[in-house]
Amino acid sequence: MPFRSATVERLRGLALAVALCGASTLAAQGPHTASAMASGAVPAAKPGRPPASDASVREAILGHGPWPPPSSPDPSNRVAGSAAAARFGHKLFFDPRLSTDGTVACSTCHVPEFGYTDRRPVAVGLAPTDRNTKSVVDARFNRWFGWSGATDSLWAASVRPLLDPREMGSAERHVVDRVRREPDLASGYRRVFGKPADGVDDGQLFADIGKAMAAFQATLVSGRSAFDDYRDALARGDRRAQARYPADALRGLQLFVGRAQCNLCHFGPQFTNGEFDKVGISVRRPDGRIDWGRHDGIKALQSSRFSLLGRFNDDPARRTAQSTRHVALTNEAYGQFRVPGLRNVARTAPYMHDGSLATLTDVVRHYSTIDAVKLHLAMPHSHGEPGDDLPARPTDSVLRTLDLDEREIADLVAFLESLSERRPRR
Ligand code: HEC
Ligand code: HEC
Repeated sequence: MPFRSATVERLRGLALAVALCGASTLAAQGPHTASAMASGAVPAAKPGRPPASDASVREAILGHGPWPPPSSPDPSNRVAGSAAAARFGHKLFFDPRLSTDGTVACSTCHVPEFGYTDRRPVAVGLAPTDRNTKSVVDARFNRWFGWSGATDSLWAASVRPLLDPREMGSAERHVVDRVRREPDLASGYRRVFGKPADGVDDGQLFADIGKAMAAFQATLVSGRSAFDDYRDALARGDRRAQARYPADALRGLQLFVGRAQCNLCHFGPQFTNGEFDKVGISVRRPDGRIDWGRHDGIKALQSSRFSLLGRFNDDPARRTAQSTRHVALTNEAYGQFRVPGLRNVARTAPYMHDGSLATLTDVVRHYSTIDAVKLHLAMPHSHGEPGDDLPARPTDSVLRTLDLDEREIADLVAFLESLSERRPRR
């Protein structure tokens, strides 16, 4: 997977340079400057360098904003940005009729009052699933969707749960029949897409349902947080406004972009580089099965009719499909999970792909005590049959045991809590 992993390396290198070398203006420009790294404009940095200068800490902090970032409607979805589609999508999102037995809606797991998650370790629809429910707030900014990137657009991520037997257990046929037969759904479809659902083939109609739901979810952008106010005050040199940011959150932020190097992966305004990595969470499920994460995600993506490479992508130039075209299965992908964004993270406990860490303090303790060698031991491995545990070997992970003291742990948690929106923008 040369293209993808090179990108990840560049992003990491960029963040490292920012965190450790004081590559001053880069962070503020965000991940798009990755090509500057590739062209050798900034010298590569290694972990374990001396602490960052004040100027580089400042630039690293500025790189986590501004919020909200500029964005435009998704070209792969012809109804993205349409208010009528968002209204119809909102209705569908809360409508259990799309599930096989009429009992499960998207909102069963993506509960608005719980930050569009469900407070459970793993989601439960018609049956328990293997993974923690991801919030759909800010999902419009993703390049990949779900913990393993099994889908590459917001609309494909929205039809996936309809078909999962443990989530909504539907079939394409069932969904399109409902939309054609229920008068309110049929008229909603006609209003948004400008033609009767009866005249559209099953696959197209099914994808369109996802596109309407995507138009709704794209309106869910998180509001500004205490961190954003601090970051903007820092940008304009307003000391009085900076002083309103709590001291413990500020110390936590300095750790986050400094010694703890969290921003190597939790990068930019969304606090994620958008890619996949391993942080020592077991891939083994309680029942002994293994969740191979990104490896399974790539396989699902490549075999999906609803990927951006397929006929339902509305972007005629297919530029949106470029990342998908370059995805390839590699051993590295075994056991990787998507680096989650951290906005509103205090509202979406429990944490990690399997919901195995109950609180933010547990997450920070996990990183504090992480053992780089165990990172690999935790991984049943890749070359042989699933379940083969390979002996420890050197890892290229950027993670190091941080040995944080109790105050540092509390400070990092205070910082993560400062990423919660004050008021929803929705
Ligand atoms: C049974 C609970 C459940 C139901 C019902 C459900 N979801 Fe989800 N949702 C999840 C889980 C779990 C994930 C993470 C999936 C993964 O990683 O494989 C997720 C992920 C997503 C994502 C990706 C978010 C991101 O940032 O990557 C989107 C979008 C989404 N769901 C939309 C929907 C829509 C639309 C519906 C209704 C058609 C729906 N979901 C129904 C549990 C559920
Ligand atoms: C090597 C990349 C990397 C680094 C460095 C890193 N993380 Fe993560 N982080 C991840 C990945 C990948 C996950 C998801 C892992 C999984 O579910 O198996 C994650 C998950 C999390 C979560 C859970 C979010 C959720 O919604 O479940 C939090 C909180 C978090 N990280 C905070 C931090 C903090 C604080 C630091 C620094 C001490 C840090 N991370 C360093 C990659 C990284």
